Amino acid sequence: LEKLEMLYEGKAKKVYGTQNVDQVIVEYKDDATAFNGEKKGTIETKGIVNNQMSAIIFEMLTTMGIENHFVKLLSEREMLVKSVKILPVEVIIRNIAAGSMAKRLGIEEGHVLKSTVLEFCYKNDELGDPLINEYHIEALGFATKEEIESIKAMTFQINEILKEFFLTKDLKLVDFKLEFGLYKGMVILADEVSPDTCRLWDVHTNEKLDKDRFRRDLGNVKEAYEEILRRLK
Ligand code: C5P
Repeated sequence: LEKLEMLYEGKAKKVYGTQNVDQVIVEYKDDATAFNGEKKGTIETKGIVNNQMSAIIFEMLTTMGIENHFVKLLSEREMLVKSVKILPVEVIIRNIAAGSMAKRLGIEEGHVLKSTVLEFCYKNDELGDPLINEYHIEALGFATKEEIESIKAMTFQINEILKEFFLTKDLKLVDFKLEFGLYKGMVILADEVSPDTCRLWDVHTNEKLDKDRFRRDLGNVKEAYEEILRRLK
């Protein structure tokens, strides 16, 4: 398998072409950004953790029948994935109030929600990923009604699978963000599932074991990422 030219470089990942037009290589970097790029840093070994954790999660979701872009792990920091057209929408699930929802609605972080909250954001750095709803998504042509329904159904299913899985690792899945892409006309799960994109708290101590350690300068950032991978393995 040959790594061809770099097609795209994002904040946390690089994407390279392969001889197969339907597949690309994702390389996970240690670069970390927060608050829409305002805070920048490096979390040593983050790329390794995020690559391997995403692979574990995608493999499990595949066995549970959730279509996703993962093909196989290539190295510590690289995976082969299906080449999708990413929809410009971030899908957020919240089981416990935290982060922007706690702030926006004046709720104490850690408040257990009576039911699951699903939010959509428009993926746009200049605008700071503003909150949108299904009407915006359809009206702006980001996805069709059918695609939105499929995304919602998959996202709730993924939440049930992940909540249960993380609990077996003594982790609470507080919230997380997913991205979906179009592959051969179908909506499939893409991007990553990692401590960058999930809030994960220790079940016994509520210790934060995710990117909030970096965002909020809580210390032991690298250790938290490595602890998550250790528990998942
Ligand atoms: O910041 P906020 O509370 O809205 O984040 C909700 C969840 O989505 C968190 O798990 C966070 O890590 C994730 N997220 C993300 N990428 C973004 C925004 C949020 O992975 N651009």
